[in-house]
Amino acid sequence: MNLIIDDHEIDNEIDNELDVSVRRSTQTLRIGLFGLGVVGSGVWRMLLAKRGEFYDKFGIDVEIARICVRDIAKERDTDLPKDIVTTDASTLLNDETIDVIIELIGGRYEALEVIEQALRARKHVITANKLVLAYELPRLRKLADRNGVNLFYSASVCGSVPVLRALDDLRIGDTILSLQGIVNGSTNFVLTSMTNSGVTYEEALREARTRGFLEADPTFDISGQDAAQKLSVLIYHAFGRHITPNDVDTEGIENITADDILRESKNGNVIKLIASATLDGSGELNVSVRTKALPLSHVFASTSDEFNALEIIARHAGPQILHGKGAGSFPTASAVTSDVVELLREQY
Ligand SMILES: NC(=O)c1ccc[n+]([C@@H]2O[C@H](COP(=O)([O-])OP(=O)(O)OC[C@H]3O[C@@H](n4cnc5c(N)ncnc54)[C@H](OP(=O)(O)O)[C@@H]3O)[C@@H](O)[C@H]2O)c1
Repeated sequence: MNLIIDDHEIDNEIDNELDVSVRRSTQTLRIGLFGLGVVGSGVWRMLLAKRGEFYDKFGIDVEIARICVRDIAKERDTDLPKDIVTTDASTLLNDETIDVIIELIGGRYEALEVIEQALRARKHVITANKLVLAYELPRLRKLADRNGVNLFYSASVCGSVPVLRALDDLRIGDTILSLQGIVNGSTNFVLTSMTNSGVTYEEALREARTRGFLEADPTFDISGQDAAQKLSVLIYHAFGRHITPNDVDTEGIENITADDILRESKNGNVIKLIASATLDGSGELNVSVRTKALPLSHVFASTSDEFNALEIIARHAGPQILHGKGAGSFPTASAVTSDVVELLREQY
């Protein structure tokens, strides 16, 4: 990719872009897709399968016009396209007929460049990238607003489970007091495998990678950083505050041994990695990502494998629990597709 960015100029640029006239194609929603990996390939397949249904419902043809990858020579499944694949990001970002950029390349700085350039070019952006969002969410939302486009990121937290929409609604209609949950599917898969199958940490990690649950670089997952990134996004929606992962007291699962699992199992407990944010009496937020031994009766004890669960406690609604698949190609692609549907609804 050959992208140029200047973080410091962004606010000035935003202020110069108040006169917004957003281009829209009328009958076609043209998508530029960045990434054709675990999630990107799922998104390609889902959008292709849903194309006719979307056209019938919204009268809009949803077309993936171009796909940007890192390595064009990589061997890919035969059902994935070849003719629209490129390594030249500018052919997507500078194409005025592309309405939406879906960013699924992961990582921080290159992905941030893609997102910023797309928003500046007045393209809607859909991303699953919690790493970028954890550090840049308020600024990117402001950039999207000023350019009159949408920034959607349902897939960034809890995969297929619509936790951000639930938080948005509760925050407006009630007051959220706390949230806690299992928000990282791959570490939950590893802990579940160690508990139920008695495999070692390394064996469980290998299986999680084979199933596409682990990030290319698993460090973020196993160190708890991925959960801290997601917690940052959750907190933004629940409490309207921006904290970065650096502000989260974070622990991972890398020191959990088969002996720890066995000991807790004998005590009637299971070990889970829990992200939590709680408002105290003075309005301060206590935030952490920590491993906890939970009794089998606990609501999170039965959240197994790549599943996620989030308990939200609101002043009037009380506790609510959302539960579902938090990782993997199609569950994550399902959340990305729900963002495409949101765009179609807005244009309908
Ligand atoms: N996997 C999950 O279960 C899951 C769940 C929730 C959210 N997410 C998020 O979804 C995003 C994608 O994850 P993934 O698991 O699909 O990753 P992945 O399997 O590693 O795929 C990454 C894709 O991006 C492409 N790519 C990487 N760097 C690029 C660059 N600089 N320019 C153009 N293309 C580039 C790669 O190209 P090549 O194919 O040529 O290498 C690959 O197709 C990440 O932000 C991740 O955090 C993943």
